[in-house]
Amino acid sequence: MQAKHIIQIDDLSRNDIEEIFSLAEYYLQLNKNEVVQKYRLDSFTQINVFFENSTRTLASFELAGKKLGGIVQDIQIATSSIQKGETLIDTALTLNAMRPDLLVVRHSSSGAANLLSEKVKCSVLNAGDGSHEHPTQALLDFLTIKHRKKKKEGLIIAICGDISHSRVARSNIALLSKFNNQVRLIGPSNLLSASFREMGLETYNRMEDGVRGADVIMMLRLQKERMKGGFIPSRREYFNRFGLDNQKLSLAKSDAIVMHPGPMNRGVEIDGIIADDLNRSVIQEQVEIGVALRMAVLHLLVDRKG
Ligand code: NCD
Repeated sequence: MQAKHIIQIDDLSRNDIEEIFSLAEYYLQLNKNEVVQKYRLDSFTQINVFFENSTRTLASFELAGKKLGGIVQDIQIATSSIQKGETLIDTALTLNAMRPDLLVVRHSSSGAANLLSEKVKCSVLNAGDGSHEHPTQALLDFLTIKHRKKKKEGLIIAICGDISHSRVARSNIALLSKFNNQVRLIGPSNLLSASFREMGLETYNRMEDGVRGADVIMMLRLQKERMKGGFIPSRREYFNRFGLDNQKLSLAKSDAIVMHPGPMNRGVEIDGIIADDLNRSVIQEQVEIGVALRMAVLHLLVDRKG
């Protein structure tokens, strides 16, 4: 793999992505205990520095690093106790002095992971920076799609919800478009900025129109922590218009899959019955594939140094 840092999807070439996917497939089987031979990297040190709350992403990175045999240290810093700018640079210099091989960073400010990568010697992996990007989430989403759909091009993928504030949406748009898929964005106009249309993407304010004929429906949470003021009228009205229920799902292809990066708000963006329907929902599979995908990315970044 060419990339030293993974801050955004565009840091990766198609070849890099193929390499990550084939190693992730191997780790996926290994994690299911279907491969006898184990592969461990030489000792490496990974620091997960999370300035923003996280459950699954932090656990996934921690598990991935430990399964590879790394020394993994979590540092969780409450957003309230940290100031932007110089404090972040100070933190970067402190972490750099601990000589890690990898820093996995989550921060509420877009651009924070990039700033850190300019100040440290080791590889930096962006685990979500503000509304900007969350590249490993998009990679695990795409690998899940590939598993279920048995292809990765020519699919219609509808991303629905709070697109404007979503780093998951931005990374997915970049990745899915790289592989010639048709991406449709669905949401209320105040959560779907005009810039997406200007980028040439299809946008829909009526969910029924956006999900029609889709192969994949990706639901997103309302990111209240990034909203200033009232963006939605009421949860009930939001669910009626943009929540995924059986009636709206019936408009997609009959074998359409439903995805969600979590955390999920049942009854707000998705009906709990759909989320639990294992014929449709691949939400648990996303989590499982996520560990293998992160093992592959960590492995390739660590190996690259050698
Ligand atoms: C997402 C995130 O933090 O960006 N979750 C995740 O990483 N699994 C989406 C969200 O917070 O809604």
